[in-house]
Amino acid sequence: MQFRSGNELRESFLGFFEERGHRRFPSFSLVPEDPSIMFTIAGMVPFKPYFLGLKVPPVKRATTSQKCIRTNDIENVGRTARHHTFFEMLGNFSFGDYFKKEVIPWAWEFVTERVGLDPDRLTATIYRDDDEAFEIWHRVVGLPEDRIVRMGEEDNFWAVGPVGPCGPCSEIIYDQGPSFSCGKPDCKVGCSCDRYLEIWNLVFMQFNRDEAGNLVPLPKQNIDTGMGLERLASVVQGVRTDFDTDLFVPLIRQACAITGHTYGSNAKGDMAVRVISDHLRAISFMIADGILPSNEGRGYVLRRLLRRAVRWGRLLDIERPFLSSMLPTVIEVMGDHYREIPERQNAIRQVIDFEEAKFGKTLQQGTALIESELRRLADRGEKVLSGDVAFELYDTYGFPIELTEEICEDASFTLDRKGFELAMEDQRERARSSSKMTAASLSGNVYTELAKSIGQVAFVGYSETRSQSRVLAIIQNGDAVDELQAGDEAEAILDRTPFYAEKGGQVGDTGTLSSEIVKAKVLDTVSPVAELVVLRIRVEEGLLRKGDTVLAAVDEERRWDIRRHHTATHLLHEALIHVLGDHVRQAGSLVNPDALRFDFTHFSPVTREELARVEKIVNDQVLRNVPLETLETDLEKAKEMGAKALFSEKYGHRVRVVSVPGFSTELCGGTHCNSTGDIGLFRIVREEGIGSGLRRITAQAGRPAYLAQKADHEVVDRLKESLGIHETEHLPERVRSLLDELSAARREAADAKLGALLCRASDLAASARQVGNFSIVTGRFEGVGMDLLRQLADAVKNRLSGAVIVFASVEEGKVSLMAMGDETAVSNGFHAGRLIGSIAPLVGGSGGGRPNLAQAGGKLPQKAAEALDAVPNVVGKLFASRS
Ligand code: ALA
Repeated sequence: MQFRSGNELRESFLGFFEERGHRRFPSFSLVPEDPSIMFTIAGMVPFKPYFLGLKVPPVKRATTSQKCIRTNDIENVGRTARHHTFFEMLGNFSFGDYFKKEVIPWAWEFVTERVGLDPDRLTATIYRDDDEAFEIWHRVVGLPEDRIVRMGEEDNFWAVGPVGPCGPCSEIIYDQGPSFSCGKPDCKVGCSCDRYLEIWNLVFMQFNRDEAGNLVPLPKQNIDTGMGLERLASVVQGVRTDFDTDLFVPLIRQACAITGHTYGSNAKGDMAVRVISDHLRAISFMIADGILPSNEGRGYVLRRLLRRAVRWGRLLDIERPFLSSMLPTVIEVMGDHYREIPERQNAIRQVIDFEEAKFGKTLQQGTALIESELRRLADRGEKVLSGDVAFELYDTYGFPIELTEEICEDASFTLDRKGFELAMEDQRERARSSSKMTAASLSGNVYTELAKSIGQVAFVGYSETRSQSRVLAIIQNGDAVDELQAGDEAEAILDRTPFYAEKGGQVGDTGTLSSEIVKAKVLDTVSPVAELVVLRIRVEEGLLRKGDTVLAAVDEERRWDIRRHHTATHLLHEALIHVLGDHVRQAGSLVNPDALRFDFTHFSPVTREELARVEKIVNDQVLRNVPLETLETDLEKAKEMGAKALFSEKYGHRVRVVSVPGFSTELCGGTHCNSTGDIGLFRIVREEGIGSGLRRITAQAGRPAYLAQKADHEVVDRLKESLGIHETEHLPERVRSLLDELSAARREAADAKLGALLCRASDLAASARQVGNFSIVTGRFEGVGMDLLRQLADAVKNRLSGAVIVFASVEEGKVSLMAMGDETAVSNGFHAGRLIGSIAPLVGGSGGGRPNLAQAGGKLPQKAAEALDAVPNVVGKLFASRS
């Protein structure tokens, strides 16, 4: 067979089906539109709505090489010849067009003629009662009866998941030869060893399995096929594993170069470089498709893969970050076909580097913790790691639970997974109970009941801030009541309300309710159940009765402040994407009258220069004064318009789209400006990190922005006044020069102090007392730093031979001791550290040091003199006998 590269095989497959009337689609994203699955796990996933007849396909025949992620068998990756997390699935699809009698002969033609596989090595499996497939294989293709094998549901019935499209299938099996066999006597087609390799799965998609498990025939018969490119390449290239194909070899080589491992020299090292190569492909493609590391969902899988790769690197003693250095090799192998990898390489590299560095920091501590825990358990003859330790590893050290589980397994321990889940649940519970509860949410179920009788309350606040409304219900202390008096605090529900209830980060409105008989304040507005808008009110005067009509008026100024901040939030979001890149995703926001807070994903602090650009872009949009457009549409259309949505948010079928034409489009239910110019002014107040890979910007718009700007100016004016300068631009320079002058003055003062101290050096030297061969000098000082004392001691030391100097410096509540000996003293047996060690306790402290210099601190300054007086004696006892 002729050698064909992975890239050639991919192209040859797509070309083959193009010749047969298929439209070639580029691979769809790893993030499926279908919310029921986390990743695209097969080529058919993006086409599911066509199979189900929910959407009309643009074509009847399609072919793709689809990027896929499967993580169900992750422990086997690297261990076996052909498990992967990321792989490419070659597929051809018929949406109600051709069926078995076309697809089977084509598949045969492709593998035998295009690729050149030996027909005698091929077998077909079919679903047990699929006589139609049997006939086609036997009569049309000409495969002998004994090479068509009937199998059960387990092997030859394919389904995308427990519910969804499915159907019987037929697989093409390639016999790799006896050297690949497990050697068991019953090794034959269907054996899970490497000899009989399934290379292509042809699914005859004709059912939909519903929730109840029934197989409901699909409107039309379809074809879905899938062939792993890596596997095909390994067969065509005649190598033993997928990792030996040209799709992997450059990565394996590089992993070996980095780790110093010689491929083939030992199983563990081989596994490590295979895991690293596999995971790096997955990580790169995931990030390119917009996934970022996080603690849940896809982000968690990404984090897990990355941390796994790092840990396998550590097993080969790679301590430094290394993953992103392999990215150019991923690009070299796959970048021509998957342009997103080279195009997004900067983002990929940054995310990998950030995450790897972060994990690297705690990996060592976490590993030490788990190892010592396992040792402790082993000593006690126990075999189960507790859920609490696993949780600590997860919570404090960022070890994915699966990683801890694997480490346990490697060391023949098990993990108390249940205990882990409990610890996790405990923490969630703590987080829940500490989170802020609105008064409304505390009063329980009365809302659900009211919602049943009232139905949907009309919100009129997009266009009106005042409305004549009827009071439909009043709730006091969790019960429905009929009236309220002056002084009462309670909740009210109106039939139509201009008040916006807190939602989507925007705070609730405040305002008033009034009529001839009542004046009430609206303190906040919430929506405890989707149908209701609940006003939290306080009756100031008169009587509020159920059934009355009142004038409901929103505090308009406050509402305007909120509108400005909300529109500014949208502009900020888009501006951040422009400046930082499209990995930026909203992670949360708060819009209130005083400021806005916007949380987003980004892996490093935003620089001052970037912030300035963001601020400018937003202000430019303000100056454009573009009228905002809002429209209601369905989710599909909104997505087509490119509306940004929050992944975490659940949207109904009808959604509201808010756009600043030419700049930003978002799904949003909030209240906004009429035109961007209404914002007036936008300024960023602060940027900070709030968690790994999460940043927060606080900013202001409109009035608060103006007031803050004004306050800043006043400060500047006062500074100018007190520094006696007229031009603002001279301010920094003046402050700089003042600071320089100040440090020069400080230096001079210190020099003067030292000078004064040094004058005492000869007096001190003259005061030396002889004990044996030692000349002992002691001195007590007030508030002199250790540095100066040491310089003084040096000066004294130079004037003596056999000098032993002990100084104490006292300050409020503490004393510092310093002892020094010259060379002669030390050669005569003096040891400053030991001396300090014995006198420090006298001042209530401890300390030590080298033979020539030692230091200690104590808490009893009043005992300093006593300690110094003791020095000659102590020196005599400890050292003089030897001199
Ligand atoms: N969808 C089929 C599979 O994944 C082709 O095997």
